[in-house]
Amino acid sequence: MASKYQAPRGTFDVLPADARARKRIETAAAAICSRAGYEPIATPAFEETELFERGVGRSTDIVRKEMFTFEDKGGRSVTLRPEGTAPICRAYLEHGMHKLAQPVKLSYVGPFFRHERPQAGRFRQFRQIGVEAIGTDSPLADAETIMLLADLLTELGVPGVQLRLGSLGSPDTRSAYLEELKAHLRAHEADLSKDVRERIEINPLRAFDADDEGTQGVMASAPTIVERLDGEDAEHFAEVRALLEVAGIAFEIDPTLVRGLDYYTRTIFSFVCSELGAQSEVGGGGRYDGLIEQLGGPPTPAIGWAAGIERILLALGEEDVTGGRDAFLAVADPGQRRRALALASELRHAGLTAEVDLAGRGLKGQLKHADRIGARRVLILEADGSAQLRDMQSGEQHPVDTGNLIEAIGGDDS
Ligand code: HAM
Repeated sequence: MASKYQAPRGTFDVLPADARARKRIETAAAAICSRAGYEPIATPAFEETELFERGVGRSTDIVRKEMFTFEDKGGRSVTLRPEGTAPICRAYLEHGMHKLAQPVKLSYVGPFFRHERPQAGRFRQFRQIGVEAIGTDSPLADAETIMLLADLLTELGVPGVQLRLGSLGSPDTRSAYLEELKAHLRAHEADLSKDVRERIEINPLRAFDADDEGTQGVMASAPTIVERLDGEDAEHFAEVRALLEVAGIAFEIDPTLVRGLDYYTRTIFSFVCSELGAQSEVGGGGRYDGLIEQLGGPPTPAIGWAAGIERILLALGEEDVTGGRDAFLAVADPGQRRRALALASELRHAGLTAEVDLAGRGLKGQLKHADRIGARRVLILEADGSAQLRDMQSGEQHPVDTGNLIEAIGGDDS
């Protein structure tokens, strides 16, 4: 029954079993964020293109190659959001959130769009969960946000997770370092890949990410920014590390850690998962102390992260999140159908999942259907008005008083 239409390349349909697994992740994230005072926020799925050009950075792959950009009917250039931080900073400024008690702590979940080459764990439409703490430069905020993601991954049971931590320093340290790095790259230009060579001036840090042997050889002897952090940046980084140690969160310092967005300053981090292939990062983020100013606001330090729901799902593997029903209300006689629906409604109002036959099946067919949809109990309404309750696992069946149905069905079903 295949139609000639398919979901666009790099996108996918979320079918019910998948939707249940996603819901579990999002519910866990919402609870963890809310317990720490991170309040939900939602921004539009598209923004003015310039927001990302200025916010994410013109030299990044995201802006250079991966944005879904188009002109709207009014001739304005708009872009499906490739990430959530720049839009949230835009919203922070637009709604005068700098006047609220600082920091403003926010959490979000929603679809994001990048025109990347699709592969396992890399899609053109994907879903991120994220948090942002805006208006604080305290290392406590770095540690707190990192702890939230660590907690989420632990609670979900994501296996083989490792936290990599780095620091990019402040803009001055960074620009001095970048000059030093560019000089190193230029001195070894002949050994670099064409791509890295062409981008020495615009994005030399990316050379650390290169997968060709020549560039990797050059990078092995390259200076790292962590070695060049100055007083306050070094202190900040040391404090973040100390806080994570106290919290019992294992991490590894990665002096060559880079991220694909230009707004980062000081702390950056990445949670990788050994169960994933090339796209091994489940989530990551860092400080972006200059971004709000870059977007026209007052100097406002901030930090946050985002995690990819599809990556988390892949790392978890085939998960059996049961979609079972508490009850199916079967009728031995068609005359009982109205009553079945009324009783199902009663159970639903009590918070239980209950279904009735919508296909006019005979009793045998209804029991088979109840089994297929994973009903734990079936109530059989007899023609004479009496009722039987059948436990689908044990097959046991006994008469039941429909006046006490909620208790009978809602009871322990272990
Ligand atoms: P990002 O590293 O670009 O950061 O993306 C965060 C996460 O989104 C990644 O770790 C990955 O799990 C997921 N992800 C990214 N691209 C794809 C894709 N094509 N397919 C599937 N999953 C993907 C950001 O977006 C920053 N806004 C994070 C942040 C928040 N930094 C500070 N605050």
